[in-house]
Amino acid sequence: MSWHAHITRLLHLSCFLLSCSVVFCQLSKDQDITLITLSKLLNNTASPWDATKEPNPCSWIGVRCSPDNTRVTHLFLSGFGLSSSDFISVICKIESLQWLDFSNNRLSSIPDEFINVCGQISELQTLSFSHNSLVGPLPTFHGFEGLETLDLSFNSMSGNISLQLDGFRSLKSLNLSSNKFNGHVPINLGKSMMLEELQLSVNSFQGSIPSEIVSYQNLHRIDLSANQLSGSIPDVLGNLTFLEVLVLSSNKLSGEIPTSLSNIQTLQHFAANENNFYGGVPCGLTRFLTYLDLSYNRLAGLIPPDFLSQPNVQTLDLSYNMLEGSIPANVSRNLVILKLGSNRMNGSIPVSFEALTNLTHLELENNSLTGVIPPQLSSCESLVVLNLAQNNLIGAIPAELAGLHSLEVMKLQLNKLSGEIPKQIPPRLSTLNISWNLLTGSIPSSITGLGNLDYLNLQGNKLSGSIPGRMPSLVELQLGQNQLSGTIPMMPMRLQTVLNLSSNLFEGPIPSDLSQLMGLKVLDLSNNKFSGEIPVLFTQMATLTELILSNNQLSGVIPVFPPRVSIKVTGNVGLVDTTEKLARKKGRVIGVSFILGAGASFLIFFLFFFLLLLGKPKRN
Ligand SMILES: *[C@@H]1O[C@H](CO)[C@@H](O)[C@H](O)[C@H]1NC(C)=O
Ligand SMILES: *[C@@H]1O[C@H](CO)[C@@H](O)[C@H](O)[C@H]1NC(C)=O
Ligand SMILES: *[C@@H]1O[C@H](CO)[C@@H](O)[C@H](O)[C@H]1NC(C)=O
Ligand SMILES: *[C@@H]1O[C@H](CO)[C@@H](O)[C@H](O)[C@H]1NC(C)=O
Ligand SMILES: *[C@@H]1O[C@H](CO)[C@@H](O)[C@H](O)[C@H]1NC(C)=O
Ligand SMILES: *[C@@H]1O[C@H](CO)[C@@H](O)[C@H](O)[C@H]1NC(C)=O
Ligand SMILES: *[C@@H]1O[C@H](CO)[C@@H](O)[C@H](O)[C@H]1NC(C)=O
Ligand SMILES: *[C@@H]1O[C@H](CO)[C@@H](O)[C@H](O)[C@H]1NC(C)=O
Ligand SMILES: *[C@@H]1O[C@H](CO)[C@@H](O)[C@H](O)[C@H]1NC(C)=O
Ligand SMILES: *[C@@H]1O[C@H](CO)[C@@H](O)[C@H](O)[C@H]1NC(C)=O
Repeated sequence: MSWHAHITRLLHLSCFLLSCSVVFCQLSKDQDITLITLSKLLNNTASPWDATKEPNPCSWIGVRCSPDNTRVTHLFLSGFGLSSSDFISVICKIESLQWLDFSNNRLSSIPDEFINVCGQISELQTLSFSHNSLVGPLPTFHGFEGLETLDLSFNSMSGNISLQLDGFRSLKSLNLSSNKFNGHVPINLGKSMMLEELQLSVNSFQGSIPSEIVSYQNLHRIDLSANQLSGSIPDVLGNLTFLEVLVLSSNKLSGEIPTSLSNIQTLQHFAANENNFYGGVPCGLTRFLTYLDLSYNRLAGLIPPDFLSQPNVQTLDLSYNMLEGSIPANVSRNLVILKLGSNRMNGSIPVSFEALTNLTHLELENNSLTGVIPPQLSSCESLVVLNLAQNNLIGAIPAELAGLHSLEVMKLQLNKLSGEIPKQIPPRLSTLNISWNLLTGSIPSSITGLGNLDYLNLQGNKLSGSIPGRMPSLVELQLGQNQLSGTIPMMPMRLQTVLNLSSNLFEGPIPSDLSQLMGLKVLDLSNNKFSGEIPVLFTQMATLTELILSNNQLSGVIPVFPPRVSIKVTGNVGLVDTTEKLARKKGRVIGVSFILGAGASFLIFFLFFFLLLLGKPKRN
């Protein structure tokens, strides 16, 4: 054997030995015993640990050990069905623990023993009790020198928070979301001031946002949404130079949105919707943001001219405010969602929107927009929702919109659109609402080819002709207040909320096959010229609650419907109402008994008086 071969063999051997040592290295004796004890303690829970099947605890589900397999570093006890905390003292013996996850169990308290003993594990970095049944006040933590992440979210803990968390020395992420905490937003969150994430949403915190929070200079995420906070946003929040996410939604905050926030170069996501903010929209606020939601406030004034043009901005929701003026025409091509609905904006829809090829939602409803719908919107090829309802738009619905292959929702109702409905309709539509316009002509037959259309509302136009055949996936059909006539096609079985054909020119017998719509709740055929009898089969429609047949030319006897159905039949001269007859008969009976009753009491009174008179002389 050559030298070279010798050395190679030797190398191989040592490699083999090395790798061996890794495989055979055992958990230290005491940790092994601890884990076996633990597995027995957890025996009647949903714990998957079974020492008889797998002797090496490092191979158990939810256990992670150090690379050399000598020490347990992570315990994930999520969803183990834990309800009592007996086992906690055992766990706290594992002094090498870095990660301890008790989430998704039914624990009701964090015992003092846990704080006192587990608090001594200096390597512990992450601790989660989220999604348990913890109640009562927050315990005062001490020890936990290395704890960086504390997650107590989704429990029912209550009371205020003052100094309970101030003992932490390394805390970076605190999650107390979805509890019942009250009092002020805590400001003592670890003396080391290293906090990066503060998640306090869905609690009952009150008072104002404390300015002291800026002493945590490393904060990059603050979520205070869904609390009872009032007052205004402190200007100094603009000093948080690492802030990326700020969520203040659903509180009672007011005042103006501070301009200082537009100085935070790292801020990407800012939501302050559902508050009482007033004043203007600060210029430059979108300079660095990708996501901005200021909807449901009382913001007024103009949208600053460069507000929509910032290249980072992707989602912008300013709906439900009092903004006025026109929509800025300078828009960033990167916009994905733009919601400006329910404001007081006027002017027309900028043609420049044609450049927005990434735009999925364009919602400008309930404003005072004028002019036509720009045909160029057909270039917004990613559009899923187009809502221009409740404006003063005129002109025709552009035929070009048929090219919007991703469009699912098109709402153009309550405008002054005229002309005919285009022959071609966006193919993926599920909701089409073009009610209350001035549309004429007939309903295009292409509508029967829309396989996803479940809501169609064309009511309140001047449409004529007949319904063009079966629309296969309809759930609700509103065609009232038009000039439609002809035969009513077979309706799809899925039709289950409303079928409204009222105030049209339909005539002839009511098609009895409508009775096959077993999920239908409301059927309105009023104000037409339907004649003949009410189909008896209608009484068997299982979910019908409202049947409106008034003002037609129906005749015959009204069938007897179950009591859940409210029927309106007035204005049909030929119709005989058996229930009405019954009521009249009942009325007569009541009348007779009234007369009888009145007669009887008169008689008794007379007799009484007579007896009184008779008795009088005897007393004298
Ligand atoms: C776990 O409990 C079952 C019955 O509940 C019992 O048969 C089994 O021996 C127990 N296992 C251990 C390791 O204690
Ligand atoms: C906080 O809670 C404690 C204990 O319930 C109570 O004594 C204290 O008054 C509360 N502090 C505030 C500011 O509400
Ligand atoms: C708690 O908040 C932190 C920081 O925001 C987050 O990373 C974590 O996923 C949250 N926990 C739960 C259970 O949602
Ligand atoms: C905020 O920053 C400004 C300017 O950098 C500074 O003058 C001010 O003292 C800071 N305020 C706080 C509370 O840190
Ligand atoms: C549109 O906005 C961009 C970015 O804010 C700006 O650079 C550009 O000058 C603006 N264009 C017009 C015509 O105002
Ligand atoms: C639009 O509204 C603004 C502010 O309310 C007003 O000054 C302007 O005259 C209006 N423009 C039109 C075309 O109505
Ligand atoms: C649109 O989205 C794509 C993919 O998310 C992205 O690469 C692109 O920069 C965006 N902007 C434009 C104008 O296409
Ligand atoms: C229309 O906007 C006004 C003003 O913002 C609002 O009060 C109203 O509720 C909105 N209507 C609808 C149907 O959303
Ligand atoms: C359609 O428009 C009508 C007004 O004509 C409105 O009441 C209804 O809520 C709208 N439905 C949808 C789904 O847009
Ligand atoms: C049916 O449509 C008419 C006219 O559009 C409307 O007045 C009526 O309220 C609708 N009926 C029902 C039950 O919604």
